Amino acid sequence: MTTHRIGVIMNGVTGRMGTRQHLVRSILAIRQQGGVQLPDGSRVMPDPILVGRNAGRLEALAREYGLARWSTDLAACLANPDDRVYFDAQTTSLREQGLRAAIAAGKHIYCEKPIATDLATAVDLARLAKRAGVKNGVVQDKLFLPGLVKLRRLVSSGFFGRIIAVRGEFGYWVLEDAQPVQRPSWNYKAEEGGGIILDMFAHWRYVLDELIAPVQALSCLGVRHIEQRLDEQGRPYTCTAEDAAYATFALAGGITAQFNSSWCVRVYRDELLTIQVDGTEGSAVAGLRECRTQHRVNTPKAIWNPDIANPLRFRDQWLDVPDITEPDNAFKVQWELFLRHVASDTPFPWDLMEGAKGVQLAELARQSWQERRWVDVPELR
Ligand SMILES: NC(=O)c1ccc[n+]([C@@H]2O[C@H](COP(=O)([O-])OP(=O)(O)OC[C@H]3O[C@@H](n4cnc5c(N)ncnc54)[C@H](O)[C@@H]3O)[C@@H](O)[C@H]2O)c1
Repeated sequence: MTTHRIGVIMNGVTGRMGTRQHLVRSILAIRQQGGVQLPDGSRVMPDPILVGRNAGRLEALAREYGLARWSTDLAACLANPDDRVYFDAQTTSLREQGLRAAIAAGKHIYCEKPIATDLATAVDLARLAKRAGVKNGVVQDKLFLPGLVKLRRLVSSGFFGRIIAVRGEFGYWVLEDAQPVQRPSWNYKAEEGGGIILDMFAHWRYVLDELIAPVQALSCLGVRHIEQRLDEQGRPYTCTAEDAAYATFALAGGITAQFNSSWCVRVYRDELLTIQVDGTEGSAVAGLRECRTQHRVNTPKAIWNPDIANPLRFRDQWLDVPDITEPDNAFKVQWELFLRHVASDTPFPWDLMEGAKGVQLAELARQSWQERRWVDVPELR
Protein backbone atom coordinates (compact mmCIF):
# COMPACT_ATOMS: atom_id res chain seq x y z
CA MET A 1 0.00 0.00 0.00
CA THR A 2 1.40 3.42 -0.99
CA THR A 3 1.58 6.17 1.61
CA HIS A 4 2.13 9.73 0.43
CA ARG A 5 3.76 12.16 2.83
CA ILE A 6 2.30 15.65 3.03
CA GLY A 7 4.25 18.32 4.88
CA VAL A 8 2.09 20.68 6.99
CA ILE A 9 3.46 23.95 8.37
CA MET A 10 1.50 24.56 11.58
CA ASN A 11 1.59 28.17 12.76
CA GLY A 12 0.06 29.19 16.11
CA VAL A 13 0.36 25.62 17.30
CA THR A 14 1.26 26.56 20.88
CA GLY A 15 -2.17 28.17 21.36
CA ARG A 16 -5.32 26.75 22.91
CA MET A 17 -6.78 25.55 19.61
CA GLY A 18 -3.47 24.88 17.89
CA THR A 19 -2.19 22.41 20.46
CA ARG A 20 -5.27 20.58 21.66
CA GLN A 21 -7.62 20.43 18.71
CA HIS A 22 -5.35 20.71 15.70
CA LEU A 23 -2.07 19.09 16.72
CA VAL A 24 -3.07 16.48 19.29
CA ARG A 25 -6.69 15.62 18.47
CA SER A 26 -6.30 15.98 14.67
CA ILE A 27 -2.84 15.70 13.10
CA LEU A 28 -1.30 13.37 15.71
CA ALA A 29 -4.47 11.28 15.89
CA ILE A 30 -4.43 10.95 12.08
CA ARG A 31 -0.77 9.89 12.20
CA GLN A 32 -1.58 7.35 14.89
CA GLN A 33 -4.36 5.80 12.82
CA GLY A 34 -2.00 5.42 9.86
CA GLY A 35 -2.99 8.49 7.84
CA VAL A 36 -6.06 9.15 5.73
CA GLN A 37 -7.28 6.73 3.09
CA LEU A 38 -7.61 8.15 -0.43
CA PRO A 39 -10.15 7.08 -3.06
CA ASP A 40 -7.52 4.98 -4.92
CA GLY A 41 -6.72 2.98 -1.78
CA SER A 42 -3.41 4.70 -1.02
CA ARG A 43 -2.95 6.81 2.09
CA VAL A 44 -1.81 10.31 2.89
CA MET A 45 0.23 10.94 6.04
CA PRO A 46 0.59 14.47 7.45
CA ASP A 47 4.11 15.42 8.55
CA PRO A 48 3.87 18.56 10.70
CA ILE A 49 6.47 21.24 11.33
CA LEU A 50 5.61 23.38 14.36
CA VAL A 51 6.11 27.11 13.79
CA GLY A 52 5.88 30.03 16.20
CA ARG A 53 7.71 32.79 18.03
CA ASN A 54 8.93 31.03 21.14
CA ALA A 55 11.67 28.44 20.55
CA GLY A 56 11.43 27.06 24.09
CA ARG A 57 7.71 26.39 23.88
CA LEU A 58 7.97 24.87 20.40
CA GLU A 59 10.81 22.61 21.40
CA ALA A 60 8.94 21.48 24.52
CA LEU A 61 5.80 20.79 22.49
CA ALA A 62 7.74 18.86 19.86
CA ARG A 63 9.52 16.84 22.55
CA GLU A 64 6.28 16.08 24.40
CA TYR A 65 4.75 14.58 21.26
CA GLY A 66 7.87 13.02 19.78
CA LEU A 67 8.09 15.37 16.80
CA ALA A 68 11.40 16.22 15.19
CA ARG A 69 10.53 19.36 13.26
CA TRP A 70 9.95 22.86 14.70
CA SER A 71 11.05 26.35 13.70
CA THR A 72 10.78 30.05 14.58
CA ASP A 73 11.54 31.02 10.96
CA LEU A 74 8.26 31.08 9.06
CA ALA A 75 9.85 32.45 5.88
CA ALA A 76 12.30 29.53 5.77
CA CYS A 77 9.45 27.05 6.30
CA LEU A 78 7.45 28.63 3.49
CA ALA A 79 10.48 28.41 1.22
CA ASN A 80 10.65 24.64 1.67
CA PRO A 81 8.91 23.02 -1.34
CA ASP A 82 8.53 19.73 0.57
CA ASP A 83 5.91 21.24 2.89
CA ARG A 84 2.89 21.99 0.71
CA VAL A 85 0.26 22.95 3.28
CA TYR A 86 0.20 26.02 5.53
CA PHE A 87 -2.09 25.90 8.56
CA ASP A 88 -2.81 28.97 10.68
CA ALA A 89 -4.29 29.01 14.22
CA GLN A 90 -2.66 32.24 15.33
CA THR A 91 -4.72 34.95 16.99
CA THR A 92 -7.26 36.30 14.51
CA SER A 93 -5.54 39.64 13.88
CA LEU A 94 -2.34 37.84 12.77
CA ARG A 95 -4.09 35.57 10.27
CA GLU A 96 -3.90 37.98 7.32
CA GLN A 97 -0.13 38.32 7.25
CA GLY A 98 0.36 34.58 7.68
CA LEU A 99 -2.05 33.71 4.89
CA ARG A 100 -0.67 36.32 2.50
CA ALA A 101 2.87 35.01 2.92
CA ALA A 102 1.76 31.40 2.51
CA ILE A 103 -0.35 32.08 -0.60
CA ALA A 104 2.58 34.02 -2.12
CA ALA A 105 4.74 30.95 -1.47
CA GLY A 106 2.23 28.77 -3.34
CA LYS A 107 1.13 26.74 -0.29
CA HIS A 108 -2.29 25.19 0.10
CA ILE A 109 -4.07 27.01 2.92
CA TYR A 110 -6.06 25.72 5.85
CA CYS A 111 -6.88 28.01 8.77
CA GLU A 112 -8.97 28.74 11.80
CA LYS A 113 -11.99 30.98 11.67
CA PRO A 114 -12.46 33.91 11.44
CA ILE A 115 -10.17 34.23 8.43
CA ALA A 116 -9.69 37.99 9.00
CA THR A 117 -10.94 40.80 11.22
CA ASP A 118 -12.79 42.64 8.41
CA LEU A 119 -14.72 41.64 5.30
CA ALA A 120 -12.60 43.48 2.72
CA THR A 121 -9.48 41.62 3.89
CA ALA A 122 -11.33 38.30 4.07
CA VAL A 123 -12.59 38.60 0.48
CA ASP A 124 -9.18 39.73 -0.70
CA LEU A 125 -7.54 36.65 0.86
CA ALA A 126 -10.13 34.37 -0.77
CA ARG A 127 -9.49 35.97 -4.16
CA LEU A 128 -5.72 35.85 -3.76
CA ALA A 129 -5.88 32.12 -3.00
CA LYS A 130 -8.16 31.51 -5.97
CA ARG A 131 -5.91 33.47 -8.30
CA ALA A 132 -2.83 31.65 -7.03
CA GLY A 133 -4.59 28.34 -7.73
CA VAL A 134 -3.90 26.99 -4.25
CA LYS A 135 -6.38 24.79 -2.45
CA ASN A 136 -7.87 26.50 0.56
CA GLY A 137 -10.13 25.79 3.47
CA VAL A 138 -11.36 27.19 6.74
CA VAL A 139 -12.24 25.38 9.97
CA GLN A 140 -16.02 25.00 10.27
CA ASP A 141 -15.87 22.44 13.03
CA LYS A 142 -19.41 22.82 14.39
CA LEU A 143 -20.73 21.10 11.23
CA PHE A 144 -18.87 17.95 12.28
CA LEU A 145 -19.95 17.85 15.92
CA PRO A 146 -21.87 14.62 16.54
CA GLY A 147 -24.93 16.55 17.80
CA LEU A 148 -25.06 18.75 14.72
CA VAL A 149 -24.44 15.80 12.39
CA LYS A 150 -27.65 14.32 13.84
CA LEU A 151 -29.44 17.63 13.37
CA ARG A 152 -28.40 17.64 9.71
CA ARG A 153 -29.84 14.14 9.36
CA LEU A 154 -33.14 15.29 10.83
CA VAL A 155 -33.33 18.24 8.45
CA SER A 156 -32.53 16.17 5.37
CA SER A 157 -35.00 13.44 6.36
CA GLY A 158 -37.81 16.01 6.44
CA PHE A 159 -38.42 15.36 10.15
CA PHE A 160 -39.34 18.98 10.92
CA GLY A 161 -41.96 19.53 8.23
CA ARG A 162 -41.72 23.30 7.67
CA ILE A 163 -39.04 24.77 9.91
CA ILE A 164 -40.35 27.90 11.59
CA ALA A 165 -37.79 28.94 14.19
CA VAL A 166 -34.31 28.22 15.57
CA ARG A 167 -32.94 29.16 18.98
CA GLY A 168 -29.27 28.91 19.81
CA GLU A 169 -27.84 29.25 23.31
CA PHE A 170 -24.09 29.44 23.44
CA GLY A 171 -21.98 30.31 26.41
CA TYR A 172 -20.67 29.83 29.90
CA TRP A 173 -19.19 32.02 32.60
CA VAL A 174 -15.58 32.88 31.82
CA LEU A 175 -14.08 33.53 35.24
CA GLU A 176 -12.59 37.01 35.49
CA ASP A 177 -9.83 36.04 37.92
CA ALA A 178 -8.93 32.45 36.98
CA GLN A 179 -5.20 31.61 36.76
CA PRO A 180 -4.20 30.23 34.37
CA VAL A 181 -6.76 32.21 32.35
CA GLN A 182 -9.78 30.30 31.08
CA ARG A 183 -9.65 32.09 27.71
CA PRO A 184 -6.85 34.25 26.22
CA SER A 185 -6.97 37.94 27.22
CA TRP A 186 -6.96 39.11 23.57
CA ASN A 187 -10.54 37.73 23.33
CA TYR A 188 -11.67 40.67 25.51
CA LYS A 189 -9.71 43.42 23.72
CA ALA A 190 -11.25 44.98 20.60
CA GLU A 191 -7.86 46.37 19.52
CA GLU A 192 -6.41 42.83 19.44
CA GLY A 193 -9.17 41.25 17.35
CA GLY A 194 -11.30 40.13 20.30
CA GLY A 195 -15.04 40.23 20.91
CA ILE A 196 -17.65 37.50 20.93
CA ILE A 197 -19.30 38.73 17.72
CA LEU A 198 -16.27 38.11 15.49
CA ASP A 199 -15.52 34.91 17.39
CA MET A 200 -18.94 33.24 17.31
CA PHE A 201 -20.85 34.74 14.35
CA ALA A 202 -18.25 33.13 12.08
CA HIS A 203 -19.76 29.85 13.33
CA TRP A 204 -23.42 30.87 13.30
CA ARG A 205 -23.14 31.84 9.62
CA TYR A 206 -22.17 28.41 8.32
CA VAL A 207 -24.35 26.53 10.83
CA LEU A 208 -27.46 28.44 9.74
CA ASP A 209 -26.61 28.66 6.02
CA GLU A 210 -25.70 25.02 5.68
CA LEU A 211 -28.02 23.24 8.12
CA ILE A 212 -31.14 25.42 8.10
CA ALA A 213 -31.39 28.15 5.42
CA PRO A 214 -29.35 31.11 4.14
CA VAL A 215 -29.15 34.12 6.48
CA GLN A 216 -30.74 37.15 4.83
CA ALA A 217 -30.80 39.83 7.54
CA LEU A 218 -29.96 40.36 11.19
CA SER A 219 -30.38 42.54 14.20
CA CYS A 220 -27.77 42.40 16.94
CA LEU A 221 -27.09 43.93 20.32
CA GLY A 222 -23.57 43.56 21.66
CA VAL A 223 -22.78 44.24 25.33
CA ARG A 224 -19.63 44.42 27.39
CA HIS A 225 -20.87 43.11 30.72
CA ILE A 226 -17.55 42.70 32.52
CA GLU A 227 -15.18 45.66 32.66
CA GLN A 228 -12.05 44.12 34.14
CA ARG A 229 -10.32 40.74 33.99
CA LEU A 230 -6.94 39.27 34.85
CA ASP A 231 -4.51 38.51 32.03
CA GLU A 232 -2.05 35.65 31.51
CA GLN A 233 0.39 37.24 33.97
CA GLY A 234 -2.29 37.83 36.61
CA ARG A 235 -2.41 41.58 35.92
CA PRO A 236 -5.77 43.38 35.75
CA TYR A 237 -6.75 44.81 32.36
CA THR A 238 -9.73 46.77 31.07
CA CYS A 239 -11.95 44.87 28.64
CA THR A 240 -12.69 46.79 25.44
CA ALA A 241 -14.63 44.18 23.45
CA GLU A 242 -18.19 42.91 23.84
CA ASP A 243 -18.50 39.69 25.84
CA ALA A 244 -22.12 38.96 24.91
CA ALA A 245 -24.26 39.35 21.80
CA TYR A 246 -28.00 38.90 21.46
CA ALA A 247 -29.02 38.50 17.83
CA THR A 248 -32.02 37.71 15.68
CA PHE A 249 -31.56 36.42 12.13
CA ALA A 250 -34.08 36.33 9.30
CA LEU A 251 -33.43 33.25 7.14
CA ALA A 252 -34.72 32.37 3.69
CA GLY A 253 -38.17 30.81 3.75
CA GLY A 254 -39.45 33.03 6.55
CA ILE A 255 -37.49 31.18 9.27
CA THR A 256 -36.48 33.17 12.36
CA ALA A 257 -33.33 32.31 14.29
CA GLN A 258 -32.25 33.80 17.61
CA PHE A 259 -28.81 33.26 19.10
CA ASN A 260 -27.58 34.28 22.52
CA SER A 261 -23.78 34.19 22.64
CA SER A 262 -22.25 35.00 26.01
CA TRP A 263 -19.16 34.55 28.13
CA CYS A 264 -21.18 35.92 31.05
CA VAL A 265 -23.87 33.31 31.52
CA ARG A 266 -24.11 30.44 33.99
CA VAL A 267 -25.09 27.18 32.37
CA TYR A 268 -28.49 25.61 33.06
CA ARG A 269 -28.49 23.48 29.91
CA ASP A 270 -27.16 20.06 29.04
CA GLU A 271 -24.32 21.37 26.86
CA LEU A 272 -22.39 24.62 26.27
CA LEU A 273 -24.11 25.03 22.92
CA THR A 274 -27.70 24.00 22.32
CA ILE A 275 -29.69 24.68 19.17
CA GLN A 276 -33.44 24.15 19.22
CA VAL A 277 -35.21 23.81 15.89
CA ASP A 278 -38.99 23.97 15.81
CA GLY A 279 -40.95 22.76 12.80
CA THR A 280 -44.58 22.07 12.05
CA GLU A 281 -44.00 18.29 12.31
CA GLY A 282 -41.44 18.13 15.10
CA SER A 283 -38.76 19.82 17.16
CA ALA A 284 -35.19 18.97 18.08
CA VAL A 285 -32.55 20.22 20.47
CA ALA A 286 -29.00 19.57 19.32
CA GLY A 287 -25.88 20.03 21.40
CA LEU A 288 -22.22 19.18 20.89
CA ARG A 289 -22.83 15.44 21.14
CA GLU A 290 -26.52 14.80 21.76
CA CYS A 291 -29.65 15.53 19.81
CA ARG A 292 -33.18 15.00 21.15
CA THR A 293 -36.46 15.16 19.30
CA GLN A 294 -40.14 15.52 19.95
CA HIS A 295 -42.51 14.67 17.13
CA ARG A 296 -45.82 16.38 16.55
CA VAL A 297 -47.73 13.29 17.70
CA ASN A 298 -45.75 13.16 20.98
CA THR A 299 -46.28 16.80 21.80
CA PRO A 300 -48.07 17.20 25.14
CA LYS A 301 -50.98 19.53 25.66
CA ALA A 302 -49.32 21.93 28.04
CA ILE A 303 -51.66 24.03 30.12
CA TRP A 304 -50.59 27.16 31.96
CA ASN A 305 -51.48 26.74 35.64
CA PRO A 306 -49.20 28.18 38.31
CA ASP A 307 -51.67 27.14 41.02
CA ILE A 308 -50.52 23.51 40.96
CA ALA A 309 -47.14 21.78 40.77
CA ASN A 310 -46.27 21.16 37.12
CA PRO A 311 -47.58 17.65 36.25
CA LEU A 312 -45.48 17.35 33.07
CA ARG A 313 -41.80 16.43 33.04
CA PHE A 314 -41.02 18.09 29.75
CA ARG A 315 -37.47 16.75 29.32
CA ASP A 316 -38.69 13.17 29.75
CA GLN A 317 -40.88 13.50 26.68
CA TRP A 318 -37.98 13.83 24.24
CA LEU A 319 -36.20 10.98 22.43
CA ASP A 320 -32.47 10.63 21.78
CA VAL A 321 -31.30 10.48 18.18
CA PRO A 322 -28.80 7.59 18.15
CA ASP A 323 -25.28 7.78 16.74
CA ILE A 324 -25.13 5.78 13.53
CA THR A 325 -21.38 6.06 13.20
CA GLU A 326 -18.77 6.18 15.95
CA PRO A 327 -18.47 9.88 16.91
CA ASP A 328 -15.05 11.37 16.12
CA ASN A 329 -13.41 14.70 16.90
CA ALA A 330 -15.02 17.38 14.72
CA PHE A 331 -11.70 19.10 13.92
CA LYS A 332 -10.12 15.78 12.93
CA VAL A 333 -13.00 14.88 10.63
CA GLN A 334 -12.60 18.16 8.77
CA TRP A 335 -8.79 17.80 8.64
CA GLU A 336 -9.24 14.40 7.01
CA LEU A 337 -11.52 15.91 4.38
CA PHE A 338 -9.02 18.71 3.73
CA LEU A 339 -6.04 16.37 3.41
CA ARG A 340 -8.04 14.21 0.98
CA HIS A 341 -8.95 17.34 -0.96
CA VAL A 342 -5.29 18.33 -1.28
CA ALA A 343 -4.05 14.84 -2.11
CA SER A 344 -6.88 13.61 -4.36
CA ASP A 345 -8.89 16.67 -5.32
CA THR A 346 -12.04 15.38 -3.60
CA PRO A 347 -14.62 18.14 -2.94
CA PHE A 348 -14.10 20.54 -0.03
CA PRO A 349 -16.76 23.26 -0.11
CA TRP A 350 -15.58 25.15 3.02
CA ASP A 351 -13.08 27.43 1.29
CA LEU A 352 -11.85 30.91 2.20
CA MET A 353 -14.83 32.51 0.43
CA GLU A 354 -17.13 30.53 2.75
CA GLY A 355 -14.95 31.76 5.62
CA ALA A 356 -15.41 35.33 4.36
CA LYS A 357 -19.18 34.93 4.80
CA GLY A 358 -18.63 34.42 8.54
CA VAL A 359 -16.59 37.62 8.71
CA GLN A 360 -19.33 39.39 6.74
CA LEU A 361 -21.99 38.34 9.26
CA ALA A 362 -19.85 39.55 12.17
CA GLU A 363 -19.21 42.88 10.46
CA LEU A 364 -22.91 43.39 9.73
CA ALA A 365 -23.79 42.40 13.31
CA ARG A 366 -21.50 45.14 14.60
CA GLN A 367 -23.06 47.59 12.16
CA SER A 368 -26.56 46.62 13.33
CA TRP A 369 -25.50 47.11 16.95
CA GLN A 370 -23.84 50.47 16.30
CA GLU A 371 -26.70 51.82 14.17
CA ARG A 372 -29.42 50.16 16.31
CA ARG A 373 -31.22 48.70 13.29
CA TRP A 374 -31.82 45.58 11.15
CA VAL A 375 -29.32 45.10 8.31
CA ASP A 376 -29.58 42.96 5.19
CA VAL A 377 -26.92 40.37 4.38
CA PRO A 378 -26.00 40.83 0.71
CA GLU A 379 -24.88 37.83 -1.29
CA LEU A 380 -21.11 37.50 -1.39
CA ARG A 381 -19.65 36.53 -4.72
N1 LIG B 1 -12.98 26.67 15.67
C1 LIG B 1 -13.20 26.97 16.94
O1 LIG B 1 -14.11 26.48 17.59
C2 LIG B 1 -12.30 27.96 17.64
C3 LIG B 1 -12.33 28.06 19.03
C4 LIG B 1 -11.47 28.97 19.65
C5 LIG B 1 -10.64 29.78 18.89
N2 LIG B 1 -10.67 29.68 17.53
C6 LIG B 1 -9.80 30.54 16.70
O2 LIG B 1 -8.48 30.04 16.75
C7 LIG B 1 -7.54 31.12 16.75
C8 LIG B 1 -6.61 30.96 17.96
O3 LIG B 1 -7.38 31.03 19.15
P1 LIG B 1 -6.82 30.46 20.53
O4 LIG B 1 -7.95 30.53 21.48
O5 LIG B 1 -6.12 29.18 20.30
O6 LIG B 1 -5.76 31.60 20.90
P2 LIG B 1 -4.40 31.47 21.75
O7 LIG B 1 -4.12 32.86 22.25
O8 LIG B 1 -4.49 30.38 22.74
O9 LIG B 1 -3.32 31.05 20.67
C9 LIG B 1 -2.82 31.97 19.72
C10 LIG B 1 -1.60 31.43 19.02
O10 LIG B 1 -1.06 32.51 18.23
C11 LIG B 1 0.31 32.72 18.62
N3 LIG B 1 0.69 34.12 18.49
C12 LIG B 1 1.54 34.57 17.55
N4 LIG B 1 1.76 35.86 17.73
C13 LIG B 1 1.04 36.26 18.78
C14 LIG B 1 0.87 37.52 19.44
N5 LIG B 1 1.49 38.62 19.03
N6 LIG B 1 0.04 37.57 20.50
C15 LIG B 1 -0.62 36.44 20.92
N7 LIG B 1 -0.48 35.24 20.31
C16 LIG B 1 0.34 35.14 19.27
C17 LIG B 1 0.39 32.22 20.05
O11 LIG B 1 1.72 31.92 20.39
C18 LIG B 1 -0.48 30.99 19.97
O12 LIG B 1 0.24 29.92 19.38
C19 LIG B 1 -8.36 32.40 16.77
O13 LIG B 1 -8.43 32.95 15.49
C20 LIG B 1 -9.74 31.96 17.22
O14 LIG B 1 -10.78 32.74 16.66
C21 LIG B 1 -11.47 28.78 16.91
